[in-house]
Amino acid sequence: MSGGALLELVGISKSFGANQVLADVHFTVGHGEFLTLLGPSGCGKTTSLRIIAGFEEPDQGRVLLRGDDVTILPPYRRDVHTVFQHYALFPHYNVFDNVAFGLRLRRLPPDEIRGRVTEALSLVRLSGFESRRTTELSGGQMQRIALARALVGRPALLLLDEPLGALDLKLRRGMQLELKAIQRRLKIAFVYVTHDQDEAMAMSDRIVVFQHGRVEQIGTPEEIYRRPKTSFVADFMGSANILSGRLTQVREGCVRVRLEDEVDVEFPYAEPLPVAEGEELCVAIRPERISVRYESELALVGDCVQIPARLTDTVYLGDETQLFISPFPKSGKTLLAASMDVRHQAERQKDAPIWADIRWQDILLLEPPGRA
Ligand SMILES: Nc1ncnc2c1ncn2[C@@H]1O[C@H](COP(=O)(O)OP(=O)(O)O)[C@@H](O)[C@H]1O
Ligand SMILES: [Mg+2]
Repeated sequence: MSGGALLELVGISKSFGANQVLADVHFTVGHGEFLTLLGPSGCGKTTSLRIIAGFEEPDQGRVLLRGDDVTILPPYRRDVHTVFQHYALFPHYNVFDNVAFGLRLRRLPPDEIRGRVTEALSLVRLSGFESRRTTELSGGQMQRIALARALVGRPALLLLDEPLGALDLKLRRGMQLELKAIQRRLKIAFVYVTHDQDEAMAMSDRIVVFQHGRVEQIGTPEEIYRRPKTSFVADFMGSANILSGRLTQVREGCVRVRLEDEVDVEFPYAEPLPVAEGEELCVAIRPERISVRYESELALVGDCVQIPARLTDTVYLGDETQLFISPFPKSGKTLLAASMDVRHQAERQKDAPIWADIRWQDILLLEPPGRA
């Protein structure tokens, strides 16, 4: 059942009083895998991590580590280490003693401790900092020390709870690449918590998207971005225009969908359908996948639907231009298109009649919200 996974969560549920925080959570982590738990604040990421680490017991479900049930084992009996957002370094110790702390508790020989600490510090590029006091370090350096302290014990699994959350954006981007490189080199499995989609996309082998204590979708960054299963995932990963519609016809690999204002679109669709013919669904289209064409211009590609609309507003953002378009005047629903094409900066024809061209492959058909 665990299929050789390093870690498996089986049907984990947890409530605090009347507040259900996790509901039937399942996922696995492979050996050496970088798995990210992603979701908005309060969705249960930290609680999941605390259950894996053993700081919290689930109400239901089991935690399996290499196939062994560790659900009720205390943290120190699990081959797991946690790195928190707040570094939890000892301020009165120097760097060496901070990193060596766990090894001394385990009473390893001093030579081995010295060797391992030196190796861990070199890994986080802080060789030579051994006798510095932690109060003399920058935020990025402190987080690297916290990481060295976690790696020095060579756990099979490292849990990281928003470890870069306290760093400014530029430093964070650099640390993301470093962390990922270290994880690859050591082949330690990471369960990494973040609420930052870009961070999750940049670092993970797979992502578990959470909402309200439930797993919405598990997949590689590309799968989650290209084939989101729900409108929540579509909008949370990147952004998306979400329309409600009805699947009015399914014939020989082609679908017809009725959108707002009774606008019908018909196109080939190769993916599994989320609902049956006749039912309501959601249609998600990413802003960068809508190309705006002025009425007089010819369509460049054939494999797309062409929806007539008006351009209601443009916002120039430097590297891209946002175009607000109105294809559904009766319902008033507008779509956002994002374009890097410079001609949109020049023309800015307010209220111009346009075509919104959307390639068939970029139309995502999803379950309506609240059906899962
Ligand atoms: N020890 C606790 N006692 C009561 N409620 C808690 C406790 N820990 C977490 N919660 C609640 O559980 C929910 C999920 O919290 P958490 O797992 O920290 O979310 P996240 O890390 O995704 O932001 C929140 O509503 C939070 O207030
Ligand atoms: Mg949290």
